[in-house]
Amino acid sequence: MLISREMVLDMDIGLNAALFGGDMMARMDKVAGIAASLLSRNRRFLTLKVSELVFHSPVRAGEIIEFYVGISRQGRTSLTLQIEVQVYEPVSDRRRDVTSGEFVMVAVDESLHPILIQWKPEMVQVAAQAHADRHPG
Ligand SMILES: CC(C)(COP(=O)(O)OP(=O)(O)OC[C@H]1O[C@@H](n2cnc3c(N)ncnc32)[C@H](O)[C@@H]1OP(=O)(O)O)[C@@H](O)C(=O)NCCC(=O)NCCS
Repeated sequence: MLISREMVLDMDIGLNAALFGGDMMARMDKVAGIAASLLSRNRRFLTLKVSELVFHSPVRAGEIIEFYVGISRQGRTSLTLQIEVQVYEPVSDRRRDVTSGEFVMVAVDESLHPILIQWKPEMVQVAAQAHADRHPG
């Protein structure tokens, strides 16, 4: 499911006239937190693990980036999210893959200890359908 769209500004650009990879990772981490909150009734999540982060192509200033999230695994206290980032070009209506990665988020209580996830079934269904639509077959 589409979680957010952002524009990359001149101020976000690092070496090589492209978006700094650490900036993209921070944006994806925030998106993972937002997605976890949308999919559950839990207040707090911590990022436990980030894996298979691949930067497919550089992002330039002025480009619009879109963050899509699918659920790879529904656990007891954790959920694993597949995040795909694409550049959207409004004039041509084209998209290109820029980054993808897997985030394991753990629901925690006020003391930051793991607790059970209280799923929102309707949101899980929306996410599953969106993921299936983007990856048919
Ligand atoms: C997140 C945290 C609270 C989890 O506590 P923990 O005692 O390590 O984790 P547990 O052993 O209780 O496992 C919690 C869940 O994570 C899963 N998990 C643990 N290690 C994992 C790993 N290496 N890969 C994937 N999942 C893992 C467990 O399977 C469990 O999920 P489930 O209940 O859905 O099966 C703890 O590791 C922590 O505080 N980490 C730091 C988080 C942080 O600061 N993040 C910001 C980065 S700067």
